[in-house]
Amino acid sequence: MAKRVTVKTLRDMKQKGEKIVSLTAYDASFARVIDEQDVDVILVGDSLGMVMQGHDSTVPVSVDDIIYHAKSVAPQCKRAMIMADLPFMSYTSPNQAISNAARLMQEGQAHIVKLEGGEAQIDTVRHMTHHGVPVCAHLGLTPQTVHKLGGYRVQGREDDVAKQMLDDALALQDAGADAVVLECVPVDLAEKITKELEIPTIGIGAGRVCDGQVLVLQDMIGISSLAPKFTANFLKDGRNIPEAISAYVAAVRDVSFPADEQCFF
Ligand code: KIV
Repeated sequence: MAKRVTVKTLRDMKQKGEKIVSLTAYDASFARVIDEQDVDVILVGDSLGMVMQGHDSTVPVSVDDIIYHAKSVAPQCKRAMIMADLPFMSYTSPNQAISNAARLMQEGQAHIVKLEGGEAQIDTVRHMTHHGVPVCAHLGLTPQTVHKLGGYRVQGREDDVAKQMLDDALALQDAGADAVVLECVPVDLAEKITKELEIPTIGIGAGRVCDGQVLVLQDMIGISSLAPKFTANFLKDGRNIPEAISAYVAAVRDVSFPADEQCFF
């Protein structure tokens, strides 16, 4: 029986220079196939608001929505670590965050929760990790704040924003975070953050230097209405779904994905 991926596995992988592979899943059938292809972390992401529910952002997603999908995903997975998103407005205080994280772990069977934001989330991350909740932070383009950011755009090109992101990453690590997702971040900045941190970085539009990669499943098989620059369609050249997932896993591990055309400089 495959050994379950844990936060320790992810840290060990970073130390050994082995790339972490992550992919989203929202239902039992895909979750089983993804787990069988040796994906390390399956994310029940609030991207489900767009790819499953048809909204134009992740803002409408509720804690109950994430639990519904996590409950379908988790029992199918023997090896992958299950990460579940705390959705918009579900972690505005440390107490609200920890009670919603408890629901994701107890009802949704998640092994780790993810939340977006830097400085503003330090106390919340410290509170959760102090009480034994594994946490993945999410910096750069944080889709829950798309209306505040003024659109889906690369983050960290300006020196002050880049410095703040590095400081945030270090503070989140200090608060006990177990990993950090970096979304739509220029390669140089992602590299700097990755080198400074002891915890792994998992990139999406943040270059090959990150300790791992994550993609939204529907982007990766080319069926999203809008394919972001940072994704690639692996369901081509006559591949079926398991073969496409396996090709993605291999491309992350041999560092051929992401290529330059999927990166921001
Ligand atoms: O919800 C999601 O799928 C995510 C990824 C884009 C990292 O947060």
